[in-house]
Amino acid sequence: MSQPLDVLGGITAEQFLAEYWQKKPLLVRNALPEIAGLLEPSDVMELALDENVTARLIKQKDKDPNQWSVKSSPLLKADFQKMPKLWTLLVQATDHYSFDLAELWKKFPFIPQWRRDDIMVSYAPKGGSVGKHFDFYDVFLVQGYGQRRWQLGQMCNEDTEFAAGQPLKLLPEIDVHFDEVLEPGDLLYVPPGLAHYGVAENDCLTFSFGFRMPNVSDMVDRVGDKISENQNLQNPLLDIIRDQISPVGQITLNELDYLKEKLLEQIQNSTVLEDAIMSLMSEPKYPENIPEAEEIGTGDLADALEQGYQLMMEPASRLLYTEQENEILFWANGEGICIADASAPILKRLADGQAVLLDENLADEDILEDIAQLLNESIIMLVPLHNDEE
Ligand code: SIN
Ligand code: CO
Repeated sequence: MSQPLDVLGGITAEQFLAEYWQKKPLLVRNALPEIAGLLEPSDVMELALDENVTARLIKQKDKDPNQWSVKSSPLLKADFQKMPKLWTLLVQATDHYSFDLAELWKKFPFIPQWRRDDIMVSYAPKGGSVGKHFDFYDVFLVQGYGQRRWQLGQMCNEDTEFAAGQPLKLLPEIDVHFDEVLEPGDLLYVPPGLAHYGVAENDCLTFSFGFRMPNVSDMVDRVGDKISENQNLQNPLLDIIRDQISPVGQITLNELDYLKEKLLEQIQNSTVLEDAIMSLMSEPKYPENIPEAEEIGTGDLADALEQGYQLMMEPASRLLYTEQENEILFWANGEGICIADASAPILKRLADGQAVLLDENLADEDILEDIAQLLNESIIMLVPLHNDEE
């Protein structure tokens, strides 16, 4: 049994996973005090105006707050003129813009990296909300600034009806059984499907640590892509053995079975399936947030050994691996990657979220070549050990 975790209010990860994860909500007071003040409302406003950011501005009409409007990014200064009393600004992937925020994922080591979506922030003035709704994702809502009142209600599913004629999927009613005001640092875990309604008590920032799962439709799509990339499979199949004559308009069951069998043979190919799933799950959600790398060579890296640098994963990139019978395979940003055996333990540590010191232990030509390639593709980054800004 692992240690009790402060972020879970003193229960262990095992207890949380068994009793709460995907099942029921959990409120933890002062779970993540370090989040308080990391961003201020003005920072969120500034971020939202950055042309590369994914953001939404949600407004409720003064005359009828049940009438909603949504403006998606790119947001302009003009979008913030003539604001109604009630509004919310949502900015996605703040973890790609703030290193301190990205580091907070480490507070949730009990959920693997491939399940992470992004850290969204909401900024709303008193009374602002995104309405009563439910999400298909798990989310840890963490209060960062000001106070927000959260009400939790019924479990919903794909058959739940939404309020008609609105640009958001809003619930007409919420059957309140939880009603609490969250202070900076407080955390509320909301499982998928649970109706929730958060209303700002004053100028407030709420961070949503969102966790995703793929859907079957996207996975099938990706399997299709992988199969169609195989040149050999683009050749016509051989015909079945024709020992019987059938009506010319018919495809016989025998013929259908043969064609299905040929198709299933490919779909059941475990290498293709694994490659499809891993490439989908390692795909970055916001590739435009991956910074352009400054070209670096193995010579530069050799010079930098022992000069006080460490390697870390680039927050906007994804690096994942599978491990079977001592074979470790890596995927990064949607592609399988080839590396030397000697680099595997290093890459594995990076994918697990650890920082790796750039020192003599890495002084091997193959390893340096792999590191240079990963740096040049912005899958990982080089960070000075002692940041001068600190
Ligand atoms: C919010 O922060 O207002 C919305 C977050 C959510 O409901 O998932
Ligand atoms: Co929600």
